[in-house]
Amino acid sequence: MITTTNLLQMKKTGQKITMLTAYDYSIASILDEAKVDVILVGDSLGMVMLGYKDTIPVTMDEMVHHAKAVVRACNHALIIADMPFLSYKVEIRDAVYNAGRLIKEGGAAGVKVEGGAEIIDIVSAIIKADIPVMGHIGLTPQAVNQMGGYKVQGKDSKTAQKIFYDAQCLADTGVSGLVLECIPCKLAEEITHTLPNTPTIGIGAGPHCDGQVLVSHDLLGLYNRKPPRFVRKYADLTSIITTAVEKFSKDVKEQNFPDLKESYE
Ligand code: KIV
Repeated sequence: MITTTNLLQMKKTGQKITMLTAYDYSIASILDEAKVDVILVGDSLGMVMLGYKDTIPVTMDEMVHHAKAVVRACNHALIIADMPFLSYKVEIRDAVYNAGRLIKEGGAAGVKVEGGAEIIDIVSAIIKADIPVMGHIGLTPQAVNQMGGYKVQGKDSKTAQKIFYDAQCLADTGVSGLVLECIPCKLAEEITHTLPNTPTIGIGAGPHCDGQVLVSHDLLGLYNRKPPRFVRKYADLTSIITTAVEKFSKDVKEQNFPDLKESYE
């Protein structure tokens, strides 16, 4: 079983870290068998599993429900669960309690929170409760309304400096890793090299991070949205599933399914 300590060892020894999202038992089993290092029960489940337009409506109960299913499937990967919008930025006490639910009820090994220097007190309180925390800076999808859309962050020196500062603050607070989303690759490289004890996991942050994360449904071609530029689609499961379902329908309609071998005497 991969632990947060292993992630740090991987950074130190230059082995890249793989991280993918999963929200259910079946996909999580496949990823775990394929030896993905980290499985993220991302709040992106709001879009890919539940059909919301963004991650904002996702609740704690939904996160716990999906985390439980993923945890039941895994023997290898480190499982991190996202803290959803409003579950950690209102009151520190609620943040610790909600993080605890993802560990105690959901069975995850750590939680991920979005934000920088402004949430250091929250991150610190969760870590003090013995819960590993992964940070997430750059494009933080829970702030989509404040950011005015899903846009690359840190393109000018002022915003780049702020992201760099956020990364340092989170590292000093003791996060077990840092997701860097949609920032220029030079900035991601600088952060990665400046923080010797904090593995960075990039998504749209270039090749120099310590690891890479993608939404599995994007990589597998299983979610019908126009993928962002940083996605590499490794399979087109939508067309494979469509063909299979069309064949099934045709066989049933033409009375070719089931045959006698597929029936009981
Ligand atoms: O929710 C999610 O899937 C994420 C990844 C995009 C990093 O936060």
